[in-house]
Amino acid sequence: MQYNTIHVEASRSYDIHIGRGILAGLGEFIRPLLGNCRLAVLTDSNVDVLYGNAIMEYLNAAGYNACKYVIPAGEASKCADTLLAFLNFMAAEQLTRSDAVVAFGGGVVGDLGGLSASLYLRGVKYVQVPTTLLAAVDSSVGGKTAIDIPAGKNLVGSFYQPSLVCCDTALMDTLLPNIYRDGCAEVIKYGMILDGKLYDTLHTLPFDREAVVSRCVEIKRDVVQQDEFDNGIRGLLNFGHTFGHAIEKLSNFAVSHGEAVAKGMVIAARMAPLCGLCDVADELSALLVQYGFDIACPYSANEVYEALLSDKKRRGGNISVVLPRSVGDCTLVSLPVEELKELLQKVI
Ligand SMILES: NC(=O)c1ccc[n+]([C@@H]2O[C@H](COP(=O)([O-])OP(=O)(O)OC[C@H]3O[C@@H](n4cnc5c(N)ncnc54)[C@H](O)[C@@H]3O)[C@@H](O)[C@H]2O)c1
Repeated sequence: MQYNTIHVEASRSYDIHIGRGILAGLGEFIRPLLGNCRLAVLTDSNVDVLYGNAIMEYLNAAGYNACKYVIPAGEASKCADTLLAFLNFMAAEQLTRSDAVVAFGGGVVGDLGGLSASLYLRGVKYVQVPTTLLAAVDSSVGGKTAIDIPAGKNLVGSFYQPSLVCCDTALMDTLLPNIYRDGCAEVIKYGMILDGKLYDTLHTLPFDREAVVSRCVEIKRDVVQQDEFDNGIRGLLNFGHTFGHAIEKLSNFAVSHGEAVAKGMVIAARMAPLCGLCDVADELSALLVQYGFDIACPYSANEVYEALLSDKKRRGGNISVVLPRSVGDCTLVSLPVEELKELLQKVI
């Protein structure tokens, strides 16, 4: 079995293993960390159909007594009802403090599994087994967990690092093209913010998935190690997201996260030269189009501005945006909201 291992030093330190076909070794990865505990596998209905039997067989073959809880696929499951239902399931299964959660799925399962683990018995350990490209390069790393509440997305959550991440890149073979592409927006983001060399390799498709996922995870690791609790440099990871969230929200989430981030990155790149930074908008737009993204923003500058302010829950003052200084080098810029409005009017 071939895989890369990336180590994260945070409030809880852990290894991230990345390789094709490594799901079969999950039990052996877990054993030295957690011993012979019980495992509650959380997954969604799509992943369960494809790989639910396989993960249970691998864990059983490794000697683990594992139970499984399946939630309906989709963002709607990242809610308080599902959280409580899973907590009740763990209680009914009589899981103890020394047992653990295995979050087996995309970002929805990862966020819900992590939050459940941080709450059950005031905290049990958990393992992330990401199955989407987005979860592999983003949500499974860094310890942010959350659910959505009616007032907004990701409003209830915790910082709670996993004990292990096991990323089997072969599982992504079955992703629908649009879901895979959503993850590609995050990959392009990593290249833009911190690694021009990675960015250059992305022009050749298909990219080497293990190498690219590993590099993105290293970048996220480096950022998280400097700013685990998101008070500074972790903000760089929001490149394209500030405007992207506004677009997602305006579309009532009909525009997917990846598509919205792609549009948001183009808006930020067009803004950069107006703030005295370099102009990489054409270059970035061409790469995003190569990946099949529609980079046009379907909303007016004023609509995006209003959504952005309500998202940030404030009027007046400044908003931080991430702007490129060059390909592979982005910076956080704090702009007065009035100036941001004028800039949006020039670039949308
Ligand atoms: N915690 C963080 O740091 C962080 C970062 C980014 C995003 N997120 C969260 O992640 C979520 C989005 O994650 P996502 O894009 O992975 O969405 P998701 O978990 O909804 O997965 C997308 C779809 O792909 C399906 N799927 C998953 N794995 C599959 C596979 N191997 N083959 C076939 N289908 C598969 C799922 O069933 C689902 O229908 C959002 O809730 C977002 O808020 C969290």
